[in-house]
Amino acid sequence: MPERTPFIGGNWKMNTTAREAVELAAGVAQGVKADGPHDPQVAIFPPFVWLGMVDDAIRGSQLRLGAQDCSPHANGAHTGDVSLAMLEEVGVSCVLVGHSERRHGLAEPPERIAAKLHAVLGAGLTGVLCIGETLQEREAGQTDAVNESQLRSALRGLSIVGPDRLVIAYEPVWAIGTGRTASAGDAQAAHRHIRGVLGTLLGSTTAGSIRVIYGGSMKPDNAAELMAQPDIDGGLIGGASLKADQFLAIVDAARREGKAQPAAGTHRGHR
Ligand code: 13P
Repeated sequence: MPERTPFIGGNWKMNTTAREAVELAAGVAQGVKADGPHDPQVAIFPPFVWLGMVDDAIRGSQLRLGAQDCSPHANGAHTGDVSLAMLEEVGVSCVLVGHSERRHGLAEPPERIAAKLHAVLGAGLTGVLCIGETLQEREAGQTDAVNESQLRSALRGLSIVGPDRLVIAYEPVWAIGTGRTASAGDAQAAHRHIRGVLGTLLGSTTAGSIRVIYGGSMKPDNAAELMAQPDIDGGLIGGASLKADQFLAIVDAARREGKAQPAAGTHRGHR
């Protein structure tokens, strides 16, 4: 089996005050280690406005700093947007792209999602591409087709991707924030299909090295079972990432389920 270091992300969404953000980040940073063979990579994705102060709070730790979105453009007349150069300047090294709350909630089109992912990878940062089907699509038996089409449109034109630079987050929309998690078997089936599509698009060696993580009501009590599946390489956590002890319990579960030795160069400080 190829070696894949688990990836655990905490997507804080539009939550926390400045003070809560700094306390939460410091609490998580204290519990994150990256010196053992099974230690996962861990990143937090606070709201834009707290990124600078959170960067200060976690400096020197192994915790990586992420952004929840970015502009596909370098600069210019894009009111309200935030560029990758700005994000890098405040210590961001990974970026969420295509989260369903933007893809569906804000009707962000596939072309814009693709442009953002290409910009993130072009800037040398790690892109976490979020994909997943709605309840209606699942009930119509379209889960695999939806995942495939979202992957194809976002990855079109990308031939070589450093495996540690792209993470795919499978987040079934009906499982996000609902307390309703995909069963471990259903999630594994979706992840296996996603890896197959990655193989077609990027080649089987690269596909075997890319982390495919699960998101959607992942909690300390279901994380281990999900991450024990052969194609589930970590999690993207919403609600449970807002409490340091719950988030760190999920990080611990990833460590226990670690299937792999760390690949060279995948463990970095957050800078
Ligand atoms: P919940 O863990 O709150 O379901 O959110 C998942 C998510 O959307 C992470 O990006």
